[in-house]
Amino acid sequence: MTITQRKFDVVIVGAGGAGLRAALQLSEAGLKVAVLSKVFPTRSHTVSAQGGIAAALGNVTEDNWHWHMYDTVKGSDYLGDQDAIEFMCRQANEVVYELEHFGMPFDRLESGKIYQRPFGGQSQNFGGAQATRSCAAADRTGHALLHTLYQRNVSANTQFFIEWMALDLIRDEQGDVLGVIAMEMETGEVVLLQAKATLFATGGGGRIFQASTNAWINTGDGLGMAARAGIPLEDMEFWQFHPTGVYGVGVLISEAVRGEGGYLLNKDGERFMERYAPNAKDLASRDVVARSITIEIKEGRGCGEENDHVLLKLDHLGADIIKSRLPGIRELAMKFAHVDPISAPVPVVPTVHYMMGGIPTNYLGQVVAPYGTGPEEVVSGFYAVGECACVSVHGANRLGTNSLLDLVVFGRAAANQIIEDLKTHPHHKPLPADAGDKTLMRLARLENQKDGESVAQVLVDLRKTMQVHCGVFRFEDTLKQGLDKILEIGQRVAHTEIKDKSKTFNTARTEALELDNLKEIAIATMFSAEARCESRGAHARDDYPQRDDVKWLKHTLFFSQDNRLDYKPVRLKPFTVESFPPKARTY
Ligand code: FUM
Repeated sequence: MTITQRKFDVVIVGAGGAGLRAALQLSEAGLKVAVLSKVFPTRSHTVSAQGGIAAALGNVTEDNWHWHMYDTVKGSDYLGDQDAIEFMCRQANEVVYELEHFGMPFDRLESGKIYQRPFGGQSQNFGGAQATRSCAAADRTGHALLHTLYQRNVSANTQFFIEWMALDLIRDEQGDVLGVIAMEMETGEVVLLQAKATLFATGGGGRIFQASTNAWINTGDGLGMAARAGIPLEDMEFWQFHPTGVYGVGVLISEAVRGEGGYLLNKDGERFMERYAPNAKDLASRDVVARSITIEIKEGRGCGEENDHVLLKLDHLGADIIKSRLPGIRELAMKFAHVDPISAPVPVVPTVHYMMGGIPTNYLGQVVAPYGTGPEEVVSGFYAVGECACVSVHGANRLGTNSLLDLVVFGRAAANQIIEDLKTHPHHKPLPADAGDKTLMRLARLENQKDGESVAQVLVDLRKTMQVHCGVFRFEDTLKQGLDKILEIGQRVAHTEIKDKSKTFNTARTEALELDNLKEIAIATMFSAEARCESRGAHARDDYPQRDDVKWLKHTLFFSQDNRLDYKPVRLKPFTVESFPPKARTY
């Protein structure tokens, strides 16, 4: 079978905040840019980011980027790379003002300046009083950001491939990346998109878990493609549980609720975070709050008939604040929890929210990985930004509202790097003769499989395994059992069949292809989590309750070809300031 070929300067996979910020920079520089998205761009998962984007504007309380950097390093439980963190925090004000000038409709203070609210882990003066750092458009900040960037891209003539799924990376013999093989989801047509630069902005893979705040499109496609192309996945043991997902549903209730003054209660009506984090209380960092809720529930102080959730109280904020600052939260609470938060608390539980690991990159968005057994180096032609990338600015635990910041800082940085790189590599490299063969074989296997297992059943088992075996607290025996189970599920993926093609042909095929990616992420997560014998950030081991900087202050790399783990040092040295050395982390 021959594949239609198309050529672009840059192919971007993913149309969330990172992909669109990069595309805008590149299109405005006059490059021919294609953006592929499984959904209409403004339905990308960035749209559901609620509480804000972090930047030390100092509009409400005194602030500066260095304090922001300290909080981010501490929040990461010292696993974050401090050069990248400095880069991000230093650029935060500039990228937020840039968004403002693009027309992003931020809320305003009386003074007319951008509205800011406090979020967890934000402090003044290196761990002092609470800072107020998250710039917000009510509780729909991601929505405002994504629509602003999409409109700017339309003006800049970015070319969108809507409802297209990228299937595999194309690499040549030197390991250089030359584009992607992609499929139009409606027709099943397969096309080779050749590019001088390929940028992944495919978002996270939270859908390896049963309960997640993530959209169903978050199947970690970029990580699956990278893993199949021989690129290791970094720090996959670190998954953030957001403390407040709606009980039984998983829909996100923004930390903005606690930023505005809401707090958590156990069944005795006790504001229990005062015990776990005496200073920051409900605004301790997310790993701390998620663990505290889990302990309350485990020790029998959970609410409801099953003692299996806690309550988020915000009625004391008053109807005016709730309606003006948290209108989306009110709507979600009424729709999914059947309570109006103006008069009743919302039942919540910790729910998988964010993947701190991903495709290894440097702060310029260049993918950095060994080729085969060689040394680590920049992978020519390949860039990754946003949640699919591990820069690593979030280390073992991300602070709330640093994710929107990450998208725009590194989206812009990667685009600028691509513009530079294309000055020295202005031509398309020749394609290998077998480009696309493996993808076509994968597709043919799916079409021709008879008497295989249903994709849906394997998906259910994969998600259940991850939920049970890789939760807020992790145990030696359940991790070991989880690893065996996930490897067995991985084998089953190779024998799945699209059932009843006549009725559900295209969506079923997409789901099957997504499962190939979910499998890669789940296996990488279980291997990495089982091996890391310490507790750090979101990785909390019952058998190793302490952080161990002597043995484990290092990043994990998982190679899917041979299920191999390797490690690399954390970059502790910032560019212009002193390092923040690891110390005990309290809130
Ligand atoms: O709670 C929230 O609004 C989520 C923000 C984030 O994950 O950054």
